Amino acid sequence: MKINEHFLDLSENYLFSTVGAKVSAFQKAHPDRKVIKLSIGDVTCPLAPAVIAAMHRAVEDLAHAESFKGYGPDRYCYGYDVLIDSIKGSYARKGVRISSDEVFISDGAKSDLGNLLDLFSADNAVLIPDPVYPAYVDSNRMAGRRVLFADANEENGFLPMPDEGVDADLIYICSPNNPTGAAYNRQQLKAWVDYAIRKGAVILYDAAYEYFIEDPTLPRSIFEIEGARECAIEICSYSKTAGFTGVRCGYTVVPKELNRGGASLNRLWARRQSTKFNGASYIAQMGAAAVFTEEGEREIAANIDYYRGNAKTIAHCLEELGIWYTGGKNSPYLWMKCPNGMKSWEFFDHLLERANVVGTPGSGFGKNGEGFFRLTAFGTADSTLEACQRMRELLK
Ligand code: MLT
Repeated sequence: MKINEHFLDLSENYLFSTVGAKVSAFQKAHPDRKVIKLSIGDVTCPLAPAVIAAMHRAVEDLAHAESFKGYGPDRYCYGYDVLIDSIKGSYARKGVRISSDEVFISDGAKSDLGNLLDLFSADNAVLIPDPVYPAYVDSNRMAGRRVLFADANEENGFLPMPDEGVDADLIYICSPNNPTGAAYNRQQLKAWVDYAIRKGAVILYDAAYEYFIEDPTLPRSIFEIEGARECAIEICSYSKTAGFTGVRCGYTVVPKELNRGGASLNRLWARRQSTKFNGASYIAQMGAAAVFTEEGEREIAANIDYYRGNAKTIAHCLEELGIWYTGGKNSPYLWMKCPNGMKSWEFFDHLLERANVVGTPGSGFGKNGEGFFRLTAFGTADSTLEACQRMRELLK
């Protein structure tokens, strides 16, 4: 028996587990201190009333023989029509037409971002921005895939552009970006689409934060860009859009025009999902179907505005302290430069020990993240205000 030795190349823990362990150790040593966590992007607002009502109705359905549901419908890989129709409606409002059999319901973006790799040979070269959401790099390293990095830095506004000299087969793009909060405009995304088509590459487009886009000129889906249906897969989530981090539901769109190696990736993904996945739960899907109703959209917009208020609170604090940052607009993340030339983990310890505030060290997202630090706007308004007050006192 041989294990997959690529796992041995990974760091011992996933980034957010390392942060969590450090914070738990600190809390154990200082049980009297009130620690404020602005680290992992986990939501704090309760689910929208429309979602809760739909989930209650779904529970009731499961309680009676005549409305009981077992496995989801096989036709669309266990996605219910009502949910798929609501997703199609949401795309139509962005001017994007998709068909029902291009939508695959998932238990969240993170799983699909890793699972999609089943479709691609391990000897493909993967292009990933640095810094980046660590799950992209780790899930490729687990398969032993060669990872190339696209440098994101202050000079390019943390929005790297394609380099003709680099031959990539798979390309990860997250916009608005985790961790930097930077968002591509249409021309920039078009350049990536054109590059992918020239190289015969596939873009895995992580749109988990699209609902935070305020600027109406920015694209919210890669399928708003001409040519994207021939080169991109879009991965979406209800986690940040509608507070589903604990409920678990998302969706992935694989267009039917996307063919590689003589095969339709839409069909390969359907084959993969029907073999290895039994669908998101009925209750989660019914809750998700309420998100894009008129009432649901109004309610989730109020929650997103609440987080935007937190982002503004943090942004004002950083501005007052004269600290350089990106994000916070069109994004729930603020990506700040560590003060006084501190390294990322050094600042993490300083902030935890002296202000009892937790963020995420930028270096955990890649080498270009060294010297930077990520704060999230997903906390409560009160704890965000208090964290900022403590940062002002510590860093003024
Ligand atoms: C983050 O903090 O980067 C995200 O919450 C992690 C995730 O979405 O899995």
